[in-house]
Amino acid sequence: MSRDGNHIRVHSLQFDSLSENDTQRLGLALGRAASPETVVALCGEMGSGKTRFVRAVVEGLEGSPTDVSSPTFVLLQQYSARLLVHHVDAYRLTSETDFLDLGPEEWLTGPGVVLIEWADRISNCLPEDHLDVSITSTGETSRRFALTATGPKSRGLLDQLPGS
Ligand SMILES: Nc1ncnc2c1ncn2[C@@H]1O[C@H](COP(=O)(O)OP(=O)(O)OP(=O)(O)O)[C@@H](O)[C@H]1O
Ligand SMILES: [Mg+2]
Repeated sequence: MSRDGNHIRVHSLQFDSLSENDTQRLGLALGRAASPETVVALCGEMGSGKTRFVRAVVEGLEGSPTDVSSPTFVLLQQYSARLLVHHVDAYRLTSETDFLDLGPEEWLTGPGVVLIEWADRISNCLPEDHLDVSITSTGETSRRFALTATGPKSRGLLDQLPGS
C-alpha cells in the first residue's frame, strides 16, 4: 500500500473464490474495467482456473467466451471484443526466444488487452506495468486469487475490482 494524497491506495488484492460463479464475477469485472494496453499475467498450477478466468474476462469485454480454449500447440489466440484480446498460453514455450517469435512487440504495447497464462515463464518479457494474477487451488471448487498491480495503469484497474 502507499499513500496517494489522503487516500490509501491498495496495490494488491486477495479474492477468495468459492465457486466458478465467483471467478466469473471477478473476471467479468476485470473485462469491463480493462482499457487499451491492459496486460494481465496469470500464474497458477494446471487446473487452477487461468483459462476459466480468461473466459470471464473476454465475456466482460463483450467478446464470445466460447471462443476461449487451450488447444494443444496454439500459443497465441486473438478474439475480437470491445478491445482486441490477445490470449497467450506460455506453457509450451521452451524459452523466452519462443515468446519473442510470437511478435509480442506488435500487441504487448498496442491498443488491445493481453492475457498470458503461465506468465512466470516469460516474466522478463512483460511490460513493467502489468497486473499479476496468481491463482491457488484451496479446494475442489475454491480458488484464492492474489492480484498485484506493478504500476499506475494496473493499479487503476485493480481499484475497479470487487473487494478493492
Ligand atoms: N472457483 C473456481 N474457479 C475457477 N475454476 C474452477 C473453480 N472451481 C472449479 N473450477 C474448475 O477448475 C478447472 C480450471 O481449469 P482451467 O482450464 O481454467 O485451468 P488452467 O489454470 O487454465 O489450467 P492449464 O494450466 O492446464 O491451462 C475447470 O474445470 C473449472 O470448472
Ligand atoms: Mg489454461
